[in-house]
Amino acid sequence: MAILLPGGAGFIGSHTAIELLERGKEIIIVDNFLNSNAKVLESVKKITGRDFKFYEIDYKNRAELEKVFEENEIEAVINFAGFKAVGESVQKPIEYYHNNISGALVLLDTMRKYGCKKFIFSSSATVYGEPERIPLTEECRVGGTTNPYGNTKLFIEQILKDIYQSDNTWDICILRYFNPVGAHESGLIGEEPQGIPNNLLPYMVRVANEQLKELSVFGDDYDTPDGTGVRDYIHVVDLAKGHLKALDKIEKEGQGLYIYNLGTGTGYSVLDMVKAFEKTTGKKVPYKIVPRRPGDIAICYANPQKAKDELGWEATKTLEDMCQDAWNYIKKGNSSYGRNARDNKKNDIRENRL
Ligand code: UFG
Repeated sequence: MAILLPGGAGFIGSHTAIELLERGKEIIIVDNFLNSNAKVLESVKKITGRDFKFYEIDYKNRAELEKVFEENEIEAVINFAGFKAVGESVQKPIEYYHNNISGALVLLDTMRKYGCKKFIFSSSATVYGEPERIPLTEECRVGGTTNPYGNTKLFIEQILKDIYQSDNTWDICILRYFNPVGAHESGLIGEEPQGIPNNLLPYMVRVANEQLKELSVFGDDYDTPDGTGVRDYIHVVDLAKGHLKALDKIEKEGQGLYIYNLGTGTGYSVLDMVKAFEKTTGKKVPYKIVPRRPGDIAICYANPQKAKDELGWEATKTLEDMCQDAWNYIKKGNSSYGRNARDNKKNDIRENRL
């Protein structure tokens, strides 16, 4: 019995693949490399010393996905095949809704057809919109998302609740990620944002590496200790381990729909991040304060207690680990950022015909 990972060559998917393989699980990765790189799969094999099946297909392609289910015994699915760039989703809503929502529906329908009803979904703290209170618990109000990407996370959560309502033999776990950062400590895999990064740490890393001139700090007039935005940054390896705990939960307990925040429970400001990065790596990160970025909230961090109590999971890596590992990945030269023309071309989602 194998665990299927659509989007398993991506940032969070590949780190989770490593944890699963290291735990002795059999995995199957499905990816179309639209937002990832084939090289990652070799790195996963190198790190773990284990092999796994891979299908280069688009998870929205029902016929091809069915073939995967025909040829394998799939016990559970962890879905990483979502588009994830907030700004891009505003420019390309049809592509985002189609990939994230139509894709999830094809996947869930195929799972149902083959009697596979264990599903883990990569959701996001973005579903909380403007936080009702801080720290965020799973009971906090959801809604008020401000972009198509966030809407897809919210809508898929609702779809999953409706599916469970109609058939409670499904086992579903919704994981709400806070701000995943860092890279595998080997330096062999890490985050590969396309073009100029939108997220803070990938941007800072490129500034430190002198590929970008300076960091723009989006606003210093928020109601936070230093005026800059506060987030719950979580090391991607901690996040990956959370998926294993979620899998244990739905494998053992059965018949339930669960929702967990995966965050550290600590908020750091943009300037905290700059200082931590500079201290850990010894590299300077020149920055300037610019106006707020539209759609940003002041503070967002998790109360991760439910995941601790019910999954036995908690983040253990420090801010220094996050900075060091993100930097290490770039320094070791394994990032294909700006170098791989073929993949850059392929990564343009305009090529993703509907
Ligand atoms: N920031 C800057 N300059 C930059 C980039 C970011 O000052 O160049 C600031 C932002 O204003 C914010 C903080 O750094 O205060 C973090 O911004 P990110 O873009 O790294 O992350 P967000 O919190 O905006 O969004 C992330 C993910 C989303 C997810 C959300 C969940 O990118 O996918 O967390 O809360 F939905």
